[in-house]
Amino acid sequence: MRINTSTPLILLCAAAMLLVAPTACTDDGTGDTGDTDTSGGDGDGDGDPGDGDGDPGDGDGDPGDGDGDPTGDGDGDPGGVDEAAIIAEAMGYQSWVLINAAPFMSAGHDGGMATVNVWVPPDLAAQYKAIDPANPMATEFAEGSIIVKEHLDDMGMPAAGTIMYKGPPGYSEGSGDWWWGMGNVLGGELASSGPDLAGCIGCHSPQTTTDWVFGVPPADQNP
Ligand code: HEC
Repeated sequence: MRINTSTPLILLCAAAMLLVAPTACTDDGTGDTGDTDTSGGDGDGDGDPGDGDGDPGDGDGDPGDGDGDPTGDGDGDPGGVDEAAIIAEAMGYQSWVLINAAPFMSAGHDGGMATVNVWVPPDLAAQYKAIDPANPMATEFAEGSIIVKEHLDDMGMPAAGTIMYKGPPGYSEGSGDWWWGMGNVLGGELASSGPDLAGCIGCHSPQTTTDWVFGVPPADQNP
């Protein structure tokens, strides 16, 4: 599947905003009704993030399952990736380590107009944080490594996201064995995914020293 990535990203964000906006409107409405309820006020604010917060707990259990599948499927074959397991794992990204200290403007995604956060699972945080884009040292990510970049909407709420997942050795030479996904990561609904997303590959492949990964400048990282 070869697609121009920037267009879907923009469409996706537009679609996400369509999805997000009515929710916000509904919240306002609920808030009014909530005034009569004792818990109405708090419930509205906590409620929305709560949907996302609940999922990460499930996601923590998945990495182990996901790692096993690609290897288990292919005896000696390069094997594939278990896309459903990756998406389930990625849905829990908000329980991972937030790399950047503050949301930042992406240098690439959505034509450099996306405000983003980068999340990695705890066991990957040291390796990811060690990448200094200004002075990249060679690093290679192990099979099962997963990174999520979260795109925020104008209100700072997650609107969409992109996923990189490292498949087994030989999984996809043309993509550095990475599997790519983009869409509603929190909701587990991707607009496109696979080893051959040309847009993602075009931008990320020049990062040869750091295994196709850009990294976040150390000065912008959480301590
Ligand atoms: C126009 C160039 C460009 C395109 C296209 C692009 N990226 Fe990126 N990507 C970047 C840059 C630059 C960064 C570094 C952080 C930043 O500035 O946003 C990045 C960071 C990331 C990260 C965080 C890990 C890292 O590299 O530090 C993920 C995950 C990611 N991109 C996934 C994707 C996926 C999936 C696609 C395709 C749907 C994609 N990207 C398409 C430029 C691009």
